Amino acid sequence: MTNVVVIGSQWGDEGKGKIVDWLSERADIVVRYQGGHNAGHTLVIGEKVFKLSLLPSGVVRPGKLGVIGNGVVVDPWALLEEMERVRAQGVEIDPGSLVIAENASLILPVHRALDRARELARGADKIGTTGRGIGPAYEDKVGRRAVRMCDLADPEQLRRRVDGLLVHHNALLKGLGDEPVSAEALVRELEAIAPRILPYAGVTWQVLSEAKRAGKRVLYEGAQGVMLDVDHGTYPFVTSSNTGAGQAATGSGSGPNSIGYVLGITKAYTTRVGSGPFPTEQDNEIGRTLGERGREFGTVTGRARRCGWFDATLVRQAMRVGGVNGIALTKLDVLDGLDEIRIGIGYDIDGRRYDHLPASEALQARAVPVYETMEGWKESTYGARRWADLPATAIKYIRRIEELIDTPVALLSTSPDRDDTIRVRDPFED
Ligand code: GDP
Ligand code: IMO
Ligand code: MG
Repeated sequence: MTNVVVIGSQWGDEGKGKIVDWLSERADIVVRYQGGHNAGHTLVIGEKVFKLSLLPSGVVRPGKLGVIGNGVVVDPWALLEEMERVRAQGVEIDPGSLVIAENASLILPVHRALDRARELARGADKIGTTGRGIGPAYEDKVGRRAVRMCDLADPEQLRRRVDGLLVHHNALLKGLGDEPVSAEALVRELEAIAPRILPYAGVTWQVLSEAKRAGKRVLYEGAQGVMLDVDHGTYPFVTSSNTGAGQAATGSGSGPNSIGYVLGITKAYTTRVGSGPFPTEQDNEIGRTLGERGREFGTVTGRARRCGWFDATLVRQAMRVGGVNGIALTKLDVLDGLDEIRIGIGYDIDGRRYDHLPASEALQARAVPVYETMEGWKESTYGARRWADLPATAIKYIRRIEELIDTPVALLSTSPDRDDTIRVRDPFED
């Protein structure tokens, strides 16, 4: 029996939500361990569509425990709102089915304001963040001045924490010519929300450790993707957390030996939302076709996602730094009907050939992809549930991807629906 970690292999939105939902049938616990409500995970179950940001994708299945780990930055107002929205869709959520780490850092209104103000100040150089306050909240965590879940239970400590935090933020706001934040008002807001969120707070590392001892299966749900990782991504156009599989251990307090199989969710083409380098981007008819067919609009912000060809160089890199054992290849159906399909197999930068994406922002910006071209297929793969139903040319494309990224396909997804998933090998049994 193995625990499975699901991570994104590209720039996010690879279809992690769908695959986590599908896998969670055989898991006991689903854990979020990094990121926050910048994530947008879509689950399609028959007629029902769930859009989850902070809630682990297992919540929609009765009897599963959802854990929000210490590595997540939690906006308590956004979380309560999401819980209400999901409850209105008929899902039961209570402290028996959801536990939030008592040592998770909180996202406060001041973080959101700072995120947006900074983006405005960057002008054309903006990161294109989700504006949710993710970066500033992680800065405060690492800066050792964050307000954490457990502080909500102790009025005196909460006041001290808020005072400490505002020394930093009000100096910053003053420098930017903005109004300072009132400590009293912030404490009042937090005290008002505390009784609603505290029933969910718990010792999640212990919950996971006991589950491990009892032989329960844990599914770790990553957010974003390896190319948005703060160390390994296209810095500075990244998110503010580590998105590789190692973070599942630190972000939940489980230790590295809790991780069994790492499944990299990988889109059959590439998308990116927000700014930053994207060598195989197709800012043309092809890109628009992929965007329309794949309905590539952000789950969180509604922004149109940039689209392009599959970049095998980038994904191979993600396989290595993310620690991936096998992939779930998603959205193959979006490529149906194309005459030819291209795959990026390397970069040309200033006349030199690269088999990886170098770390320098300037070099990344000048990376020109080297392509190989494959024949497309005319048949529809939408909703295919058997490998045998796939056209030979589609199988050839999948096999070529496996070869180029040196990682096998474990699952294949052919529509947004939970059930349209082909199992090649079982991540829980591998
Ligand atoms: P996540 O952030 O990785 O969970 O991905 P998102 O939910 O943000 O974006 C993926 C989108 O693709 C969602 O709208 C899914 O419903 C949809 N999707 C997932 N798998 C497939 C697939 O195999 N085919 C198609 N056509 N859509 C899919
Ligand atoms: P899921 O989990 C796609 C991107 C933002 C921006 C950058 C930094 O749904 O795959 P942030 O708000 O995190 O400081 O923004 O990261 N980004 C995502 N892109 N999917 C996501 O999550 C993302 N979360 C953040 O667009 O470019
Ligand atoms: Mg998403």
